[in-house]
Amino acid sequence: MSNEGDNEDVDHELRVSKIRDGTVIDHVRGGQALNVLAILGIDGSKGEELSIGMNVPSDRLARKDIVKVEGRELSQDEVDVLSLIAPDATINIVRDYDVEEKHRVERPDVVEGVLSCPNAACITTGNEPVTSRFTVLEDGVRCSYCETIVREEIASLIDT
Ligand code: CTP
Ligand code: ZN
Repeated sequence: MSNEGDNEDVDHELRVSKIRDGTVIDHVRGGQALNVLAILGIDGSKGEELSIGMNVPSDRLARKDIVKVEGRELSQDEVDVLSLIAPDATINIVRDYDVEEKHRVERPDVVEGVLSCPNAACITTGNEPVTSRFTVLEDGVRCSYCETIVREEIASLIDT
């Protein structure tokens, strides 16, 4: 075990166990882990094996969150939406305890069915079964139906 990288892997500071097979979402902004899970639609109610570390010390970020999902390999499309709330996240695909793939999240052009429009008059917030759709801008997101732009607090639009 090396002393490089984030401290959490140093023996005496290990907070969240290694997983055998699945996905580790690392370098999540401190405090965003629960939003990460909400965006992914994972809440543990279906028996998913999850480990969450919040506000743990990190070299790269002052404090980071880390989310480990056992038994599930998340696809690039699934994780890209996380770029809105965790732009520095690293996605690690783990197989038989080894990190087999490591990639960064990329900003998608469009996000569908994940965020809800804050405009009460928007067609997507009524009773009609219209799936939400936002265009991703450089500094926020814009509802494709009512054009409402949200720049800050994107996390508050997450359907939970
Ligand atoms: N990890 C895990 N279970 C495994 C292997 C790795 O939970 N079987 C976690 C590690 O704890 C770490 C992340 O997956 O948080 C990435 O692992 P690794 O690439 O070995 O660590 P680093 O080199 O520190 O990663 P980075 O350079 O991305 O910081
Ligand atoms: Zn809208």
